[in-house]
Amino acid sequence: MIKLENLQKIYNKGKANEFEALKNINFSVDDGELVAIIGKSGAGKSTLLHILACIDSYESGEYYIDDMLVKSLSETKLAEIRNSKIGMVMQDFALVDDFSCIENVLLPLDFAKNKKSNKTDLAMNALKSVGMDSMAKKQVNKLSGGQKQRVAIARAVVNEPSIILADEPTGALDTKTSAEIMELFHELNKKGHTVIIVTHDLGIAKQCDRTIEISDGCIV
Ligand SMILES: Nc1ncnc2c1ncn2[C@@H]1O[C@H](COP(=O)(O)OP(=O)(O)OP(=O)(O)O)[C@@H](O)[C@H]1O
Ligand SMILES: [Mg+2]
Repeated sequence: MIKLENLQKIYNKGKANEFEALKNINFSVDDGELVAIIGKSGAGKSTLLHILACIDSYESGEYYIDDMLVKSLSETKLAEIRNSKIGMVMQDFALVDDFSCIENVLLPLDFAKNKKSNKTDLAMNALKSVGMDSMAKKQVNKLSGGQKQRVAIARAVVNEPSIILADEPTGALDTKTSAEIMELFHELNKKGHTVIIVTHDLGIAKQCDRTIEISDGCIV
């Protein structure tokens, strides 16, 4: 379970351009839930997801993952949680451009503490689940936006993390591919993974168990 209590995020604190991006955020997500986060551009959705992924800091409030207070964890423990518990699809994909698709998908497996022997098979399966297995060896900077998005999704799910965070995962995809990706998230969710999807597509939000709306850094 993940839980946020009175969480506040300020960018450029103490500077002239100080900006409070998240104000007093309270919510929890139970294990196995499929949740959509919606809200206008600039509302704070990506900021929130980065905090949930433990890749960004916050000014005040608390964040708990499975009853562990995130700010009390050591950098080593946090790195382990990021790698084993959390899979994140970044809004800008954040792929290594001069690596091939499979090299990108292998990254979380290479960083994992418990090394798996069948890494290539796992990476190929993840690529297959997003329809990118035939392009496994292609360099990422030669892919289209939608193809990059699918590789980013494969990389986020390859380790079978318990929490999958996806920032507009279908934003660059056509309707058909978008439906296939949602099917993949549904399947992962049925297997027990918690899935949180940021989307501006109300059709996608409707397919989730619950929708959290953010407006100007607050939960509506
Ligand atoms: N690194 C940063 N420094 C300063 N301000 C930032 C930074 N990142 C985001 N912001 C500001 O915080 C607010 C929330 O940004 P965020 O990226 O979370 O919005 P969003 O809801 O994901 O929007 P979009 O739908 O366009 O992706 C915006 O006003 C943005 O300008
Ligand atoms: Mg965003």
